[in-house]
Amino acid sequence: MAKIGVLVSGGGTNLQAIIDAIANGRIDAEIGMVVSNKAGVYALERAGLRNIPTRVIDHRQYPSTVEFTRAILEVMQTSRIDLICLAGFLRIIDRLLVDAYPNRILNIHPALLPAFGGKGMYGHYVHEAVIASGVKYSGATVHLVTDETDVGPIIAQGIVAVEDNDTPDSLAAKVLGIEHQIYPQAIQLLLEGRIKIDGLRVRIK
Ligand code: GRF
Repeated sequence: MAKIGVLVSGGGTNLQAIIDAIANGRIDAEIGMVVSNKAGVYALERAGLRNIPTRVIDHRQYPSTVEFTRAILEVMQTSRIDLICLAGFLRIIDRLLVDAYPNRILNIHPALLPAFGGKGMYGHYVHEAVIASGVKYSGATVHLVTDETDVGPIIAQGIVAVEDNDTPDSLAAKVLGIEHQIYPQAIQLLLEGRIKIDGLRVRIK
């Protein structure tokens, strides 16, 4: 059975969505490891409740992004992880993880990439920028992780309307609901080998 490694930094609602999807048979895999760059985050509680192994790899204890990434890679390889999912993970990883897991690292972004992506575009800032821009729709994107931030081939997207009375918080809540739907779907598509990459385009076989 495929083993998933999940990288987290905070509340872990996307981790929970993956846990729930595995429990109800929508993802045919197990979570072999949850790694957080921060101790005490609720994502680690969520993993603990399901007896999923966890590690805290604190980026502040490493002299460089390369060393930090190498520590993550060692844990993932030791745990015999097949697929890595970034789920609310807020740190930059070095390309050595991508090189070790080619087309086997996924990320979820709370906007419709390539719009509202890249440096500084995470969490609340994304939704503030979306509302300020006047766009009528936002949503979430699941993409393959490459050596650049937020620009890998897109596997799945879902949209929500941006209402006139939306605030960053109300929009975040709507987008989070989409994330929890499309992330498990994208993971299962990849595990089933149905992802065909054609440049930046992903065709679902
Ligand atoms: C949220 O902003 C979500 O949109 C993004 O990461 C943040 C935390 O996610 N993917 P989670 O609840 O820790 O999964």
